[in-house]
Amino acid sequence: MRINIIGGGYVGLVTAVCFSELGYEVHLVEIDREKAGAINRGIAPIYEPGLDNLLKKHIHRNLTVSGEYQEIVESEFTFMCVGTPPAPDGSADLRFIRSASRSLGSTLKDAKDPHTVVVKSTVPPGTTGTIVAPAVLEASGRQDGSITFAMNPEFLREGQAVGDFFHPDRIVIGCGDDGACRRVAALYDGIDAPLVMTGLEAAEMIKYVSNAFLATKISFSNEIGNICKKLGIDVYEVMRGVGLDSRISPHFLNAGAGFGGSCFPKDVAALVSLAESIGEEPLILKSVMAVNEQQALRMVTLLESRIGDLRGKQIAVLGLAFKDNTDDIRDSRAIPVIQALVERGALVRAFDPLANTAMAKVFPGIMYYESAEGALSGADACLVMTEWPEFSHLDNEFDRMASRVIIEGRRILSCDGKEGICW
Ligand code: UDX
Repeated sequence: MRINIIGGGYVGLVTAVCFSELGYEVHLVEIDREKAGAINRGIAPIYEPGLDNLLKKHIHRNLTVSGEYQEIVESEFTFMCVGTPPAPDGSADLRFIRSASRSLGSTLKDAKDPHTVVVKSTVPPGTTGTIVAPAVLEASGRQDGSITFAMNPEFLREGQAVGDFFHPDRIVIGCGDDGACRRVAALYDGIDAPLVMTGLEAAEMIKYVSNAFLATKISFSNEIGNICKKLGIDVYEVMRGVGLDSRISPHFLNAGAGFGGSCFPKDVAALVSLAESIGEEPLILKSVMAVNEQQALRMVTLLESRIGDLRGKQIAVLGLAFKDNTDDIRDSRAIPVIQALVERGALVRAFDPLANTAMAKVFPGIMYYESAEGALSGADACLVMTEWPEFSHLDNEFDRMASRVIIEGRRILSCDGKEGICW
């Protein structure tokens, strides 16, 4: 069985490598020559635990990469894993979906065998049926029903994506016809997970709603945390008691500086934009975003209430990635915090185990250190922005600060003398 994957970004590369591990012949199309070249050499352009080993195991064996669409004709499936970044108004920008659909369609022109196109990119409901399918069919000239369409959203968490692929909570497949659904489902035969077979639009919506609901849990926990802090109650104790209710579940109730990453902010914004475009006012979703925007800046307000004017003060920022175990800084809560610190005239001393290089492209003018100790030396205060497990061992390093003011945006430290953003 041969599978093509379009797009060697986060989702595409992990999907390609994991399908190779399941034993399929996989061809990955990545039009960025530099990225394709790295993958060809067995080097993943992203940091993801376990990915490099699997890539090295399969590349040039049952996994090939090219910058072109040419080899697609010989396969039975093509997974579309191109990006759907936010447009300026928050809606999903479908430019890459449209161009990939046209390119794929033209390569399928001369093929005779049946082919199933599976959209894995996060797309607004209706996209697979009304944008992808017509574009592929028109470019291919095949209107005979030999090309079918499916939607199969991904639920991969960065830092745990390989494990999530092989041990998902569920596999969702949306299709116009049962046959296509069953063919796509068969690709996951070796994986033990509940299968949700549904319509194309429902599958597309499931992805947005899952992410919006998880984001809602986080903003809700943060709002409760802000209330609890004023009352002198530990929100983590509260949520421990709340989360044991099986109807609620203990996951995604960790209060802190808010959510970042490539999915939650973008997907909630896209759902808001979609709702508004059909005349609905999404009050909850808008509040989820508003709480998230304000939450990060509370780090700075709290800091000012502890050390006063920030002008000329040295502030250590520990953690730049949007969460631990990744070098990804997309929508990291560290970004608005550093921005606010810089605007107030503070001197930022930053450290992240993996994300210094990425953040230096956003803030070239701040200082970066190779260790937490380096960033802390002489600092007037410290803000912890990422839940890196290694931060839990920090203790004597804080003695190097000019004054020991430590504010956590993630509950991760075990040392004394710290204060939480909302605990
Ligand atoms: C998310 C979804 O979990 C995944 O299913 C989807 O496919 C892609 O988006 P990811 O963005 O990798 O995955 O990270 P996730 O672990 O979900 O965390 C997102 C953000 O929420 C991080 O900034 C994290 O720090 C924050 N978070 C998470 C909290 O603030 N509190 C929590 O309780 C959990």
